[in-house]
Amino acid sequence: MSSPQIAAPVEPAAAEVDPFDSSSENRYAAFAQLRTQGTAAKVESGQTFFVRQEAVLQGLRSVDHFVGSFGDVGQSKEEDTLLAAIPEPRHGKIRKLFNSALAYNHASQVEPFVRRYSNDRLEESLAVCRQRGEVEIMETFARRTPSAVIAEVLGIPNDRIDEFARWSDEILQRQSQTDALNAPIADLHPEFTAYLESCIDERLGAATPPNDMITRLLRAEVDGERLSHRAVLTQTIFLIVAGNETTRNLLGNLIYRLAEDPARYAALRANRALIANAIEESLRFDSPVQLLARTCTGAIDVDGVPVEKGDRVLYSLASANRDERCFDAPDVFRLDRPRPRDHVAFGAGPHVCPGAFLARMEAKVTLETLLDRVQRIELAPDYVFDPNPVFWALGPRTLRVRLVPADATNARDATNGRTSERGAESASNRTSEDRA
Ligand code: HEM
Repeated sequence: MSSPQIAAPVEPAAAEVDPFDSSSENRYAAFAQLRTQGTAAKVESGQTFFVRQEAVLQGLRSVDHFVGSFGDVGQSKEEDTLLAAIPEPRHGKIRKLFNSALAYNHASQVEPFVRRYSNDRLEESLAVCRQRGEVEIMETFARRTPSAVIAEVLGIPNDRIDEFARWSDEILQRQSQTDALNAPIADLHPEFTAYLESCIDERLGAATPPNDMITRLLRAEVDGERLSHRAVLTQTIFLIVAGNETTRNLLGNLIYRLAEDPARYAALRANRALIANAIEESLRFDSPVQLLARTCTGAIDVDGVPVEKGDRVLYSLASANRDERCFDAPDVFRLDRPRPRDHVAFGAGPHVCPGAFLARMEAKVTLETLLDRVQRIELAPDYVFDPNPVFWALGPRTLRVRLVPADATNARDATNGRTSERGAESASNRTSEDRA
């Protein structure tokens, strides 16, 4: 009897197309071509670029063989190292603190705030549209919600939310400059860091500090020791950065896909049961995080491709989410896609995004607010997609749309009614699984 055939590891060929093209359309065409050639390709920088979903899943689940970062790994002290780049098993111990603060029961308490906030922002958007005939809806609506929500999760007082949102944006801009990739995140914005230091001092001085993320990070013991204040600052700022641009891109992409095709918007208005599918399809079709970077800490084969210790690899979530091996007609945006959560937009394995529930809840509330108060949405006639310039992200930087308000008698007050419907949806969010 012949022995089973084990495929020998295969070195990937050099990519002949550009998977980093600034146009997402060209990028997706390049991914499709690379997927026909193999599971991975070598890109100009020498990194292995994984494009098929099976490889991306295997690689992301192999947390004992990789650490994650676009910058140089292992060069900074742990207190300056972002959670994602801390090696196992220590990563898992710190990560538990994030899981509990962002878990369903804590994050769902923020929902009424998100509903009020979205409603106010939409009111403003409608007013601008009435005046000017169109509105830049990223500025008036989608841009501000994610940072306001993170501020609420962190227990930042309401009167500091606008300032907090501005600082969050500034830190994102500074962080996305490639020369800042290796700079400690706590040094990027001294004014913001000083404010967060005052939040730490307040909690240390309080007899009964609030049960929020900062207090949890301050009180927790990891390997028998508390985190230093600098480490608490680093991880708090990381949380702000991780949850801000990503969710903003999701909201922008969703609104773009609905405004692009008014029939899609009408279908959602007619059947709200499709909201969850629309969100998942947007995450799959327009992955807000397009790629993840890893450095290999111990040799391993990923889907038949050898990776050596010290190698840097890239996992294309965008390509994995259009893999024809997993999705029928992957380049079509479908509201009725079967198994809509089979994407990897939140990553996979033990490092899968801990903010996924919060992001989905924000997207659901944003859509419900829009559907309640806007009868029709369309792109401004001369609008052409204006991409966010951050190299790992996909989303509109600006988005000009026309809004036709819903008839006042049909518009439902977003703060009343439908409590049980919302409860049921939240419960279904909680029980469905991400790609662990
Ligand atoms: C649409 C919105 C979002 C998307 C697409 C997204 C996507 C991701 C992805 C792809 C990862 C990397 C997983 C990995 O390295 O394997 C990640 C990690 C992370 N995300 Fe999100 N995220 C979103 C929203 C949020 C929010 C709202 C928060 C919190 C407020 C958050 C906090 C984090 C944190 C702390 C990590 C690091 C996890 C770790 O290293 O263990 N994210 N996210």
